[in-house]
Amino acid sequence: MSQSKKISWPTWLPIRAELSDLIPYGAPQITGVTALNTNENPFKVPTAVVEKMLAALPQVLENLNRYPDRDALELRGKLAEYITKSTGSSFLAKNIWAANGSNEILQTLMLACGGRGALGFLPSYSVHPLIAKATGTKWISGERLRDFELDLASALKQISDAKPGLTFITTPNNPTGTCTSINDIEVLAEATLAINGLLIVDEAYQEFSDEVSAVSLISKYPNVVVVRTMSKAFAFAGARVGYAVADEAMISAVLVTRLPYHLSSATQALALTALASSDLLLAEVDALISERNRVASELEKLGFRVIPSSANFLLFSGFSSDAHQTWKALVEKGVLIRDVGLPGYLRVTIGLPVENEQFLAAIAAHRP
Ligand SMILES: Cc1ncc(COP(=O)(O)O)c(C=O)c1O
Repeated sequence: MSQSKKISWPTWLPIRAELSDLIPYGAPQITGVTALNTNENPFKVPTAVVEKMLAALPQVLENLNRYPDRDALELRGKLAEYITKSTGSSFLAKNIWAANGSNEILQTLMLACGGRGALGFLPSYSVHPLIAKATGTKWISGERLRDFELDLASALKQISDAKPGLTFITTPNNPTGTCTSINDIEVLAEATLAINGLLIVDEAYQEFSDEVSAVSLISKYPNVVVVRTMSKAFAFAGARVGYAVADEAMISAVLVTRLPYHLSSATQALALTALASSDLLLAEVDALISERNRVASELEKLGFRVIPSSANFLLFSGFSSDAHQTWKALVEKGVLIRDVGLPGYLRVTIGLPVENEQFLAAIAAHRP
């Protein structure tokens, strides 16, 4: 889904009117280039983990005649253990919902609770408004300050004016990399609770950040829903596993709008193996954080302005020519980064050191 180009649909095709000006969402997929455009983890799954997954597969494959565990109870239990261990806030399987990537979690939430509309503070993850459109949820575009920080007073006013059923906060935010403090999130949790609304905290990049997770607020504010993914820190994007951490009543609500048997047995088995090896899979997070800091300071040395990032990517500006032309010139040099549509800015995902060097060499020609 995207707003940029239009498809001319045949007249016999009854696409819903509100979707007719959209095209499928997605970053350009270009082969043969260094891909630093979709905030993936560049480290491959370690051989020891691959071997464990292969050992788990025969039992899964011979039972493919059966539907998977519809409620993914074992996986939800292990996700609860991971969140409890990594954040210090205690959760059980009944507080977790798992799905095919956090995008599916977001869609299930909007289907269940989007009736009074959804508010997000832009720029932020562009898929939030797109899922809203696809699920018939009214989208309200809120604002951030010019430096992409959230202005708390303005956010509170926007919430009390619009009274949305869902308010989105992405922290660390995509595409800016900036964080919202846990104190500010608590104020938003209180404000959204006062209007009987949910605060959806999208923490896709939380493992790269030093900020306290919003899961710590759930026992006090049952309207807080934290959305997480195994796509980034766990280097598991291809498996498609995202999850929500929330009050038990909230999880019961998403059960109403989930598709039956939506999470395949293979996905559940692979995710269980990945969680059993979480130390190995998460081992490169620190390396990515230090590479992020190194690339940021190299970009600054070249004269670019870099937005402080708590994620595995950097948003930067200050090109000698137009940002989109710079993006194109980099693709021609074999380096694919992301034009997120913010005038004057481009976003680069932190890759392997050798890939980051390739990027820095290519972008140097476009320094201010
Ligand atoms: C902020 C944010 N939320 C959610 C997602 C979706 O992740 P996935 O569906 O792979 O779990 C992304 C992916 O880039 C993201 O940046």
